Amino acid sequence: MAIELVPLPLPASADPSKFGDFGREVRGVDPGNPTPEQLKEIEEALYKYDTLLFRDADVTPEQQYRLTKHFDPASENYGHGNNKTGETKKSILHPDLKTIPSVPQVQLIGNGTVYDHWGLAEAKLKHPSHTTFHKTKVSDEDADKGVTRYYRWHIDAALYDLNPPKVTTLYGVTVPEGPTQVCRYDDGTGDELPVPLGTTAFVSGRTMFDILPKEYKSLAVRSKVKYAPHPYVWMAPANAMSTGLGIESEGLELALEELPAWEEEKIKVLPILWKNPVTGALHFQVHPCGVQELIVDPLPAGASRDGALYPDGVHVKDLKEVREILYKMQRPAIAPALVYPHDWRPNDLVIFHNRGVLHTVVGAFKPDTVRAFHQCNLAASVPVVGPSDEDVKQWA
Ligand SMILES: [Fe+2]
Repeated sequence: MAIELVPLPLPASADPSKFGDFGREVRGVDPGNPTPEQLKEIEEALYKYDTLLFRDADVTPEQQYRLTKHFDPASENYGHGNNKTGETKKSILHPDLKTIPSVPQVQLIGNGTVYDHWGLAEAKLKHPSHTTFHKTKVSDEDADKGVTRYYRWHIDAALYDLNPPKVTTLYGVTVPEGPTQVCRYDDGTGDELPVPLGTTAFVSGRTMFDILPKEYKSLAVRSKVKYAPHPYVWMAPANAMSTGLGIESEGLELALEELPAWEEEKIKVLPILWKNPVTGALHFQVHPCGVQELIVDPLPAGASRDGALYPDGVHVKDLKEVREILYKMQRPAIAPALVYPHDWRPNDLVIFHNRGVLHTVVGAFKPDTVRAFHQCNLAASVPVVGPSDEDVKQWA
C-alpha cells in the first residue's frame, strides 16, 4: 500500500508560505515493520520534506535502530560514538544521555526518574534547560509564569572525527501534558513564540539559505567552517546567547591544550551548505556553538564583485568575528514565523533530516515530571556533500 503524506499541523505563529515543503505526517505505515517499498517512499519523503511524523507508533528500541539504519545501512555507531565514558565525561552532552543496554545506538532522554525501562533498572533524567547553558536566564518569577527559551540550536553530530548522522529518530514514550509556555528570544527584538510544553523546535536549513540576501548567499556557498576539536568539551565552560543560537564571546572556551588528546586530521572542516541528496537544494547547516574558524573561498572567475563580501576570500580566525558573521546569517531563520515547534503526543515518532534542519530542546519541566523519549542517530558512513561547481557559479 502506498504511504499517505499529510502536511503537519502548523501553529498560528507559523508563516504557511514558508512551510510548503516542510514536514509531513506519514499515514498507512507501521514504522516498526515497514515493507521495503514503504521504506523507499519514506526515505524519499524524508529528504523532500525534512521532517516526518508517525502518530501512534509502536516501536521497540531495536525497531527504531533498524529504521534509523535504513537511511545509512553502512553506519553502525551512535552519532557521538557508542562509548561515551572516559574522557568525554567532561562534555556538555554527557548528563543528557542514557544508553539502552541492549541497543547502545538508542539513547533514553527526558526528565524525571524512569524505572525498569528496557534493561535500565533506574534512570535519572534531566531535561536540558537554558538556565545551565545561557549567559543570562529568565527570572524565577517569569519562569513560574511559563516563560522559557530555546536551549541550543544544533545539528546532532559529534563534529569531530565522526561524520554527521543523516537522520535522527525521536520517539515519545512518556509525554507529559502541561500548559503552553512562551519561548522568549531576549535579544532586544521582542520576538517570542508560544510553545507546547517540552516541544522540540525545528527550522529548515533550506529556508535559512533561501531567505538570505544575495551577498550572504554568495558568502555561504563559498564558505566552510572549522569546528574545534572535541567541540562539546571545548565549549563546556562557555555560555550561550539568549536565543540559543551560539556562544557569547567571553573567552571562556577551553584552550586547545586543555582538551582531551586530539588529532588535526580528525578536526571537521565542513561546508556551510549541505546538498540535499534528493532535491539538490542547499541547506545551511552550521552548529554555531562548535565553530572556531571561517574559511571563505574567493569568488569564482567571472562572478560580479559588485557588493560581494570577501571577494578575494578570507580565513577568519577571530572567534568573535566568526560568530558574528554566522549569527547574522542564521538568526533570520529562527524568527518565530519560521519555527516549527512540534506538539508531542504519546507514541509520536519523528524522523528528521539531520543534514537539512536545525533543532533545539525547549522549555523546562519540574524535577519530578517524567518524560521519556528514545533517540537514535548514527554517525554516517559518508561525509556531507557541499555545493557543486554549478551551485557555486549560480550563487557566488
Ligand atoms: Fe538533538
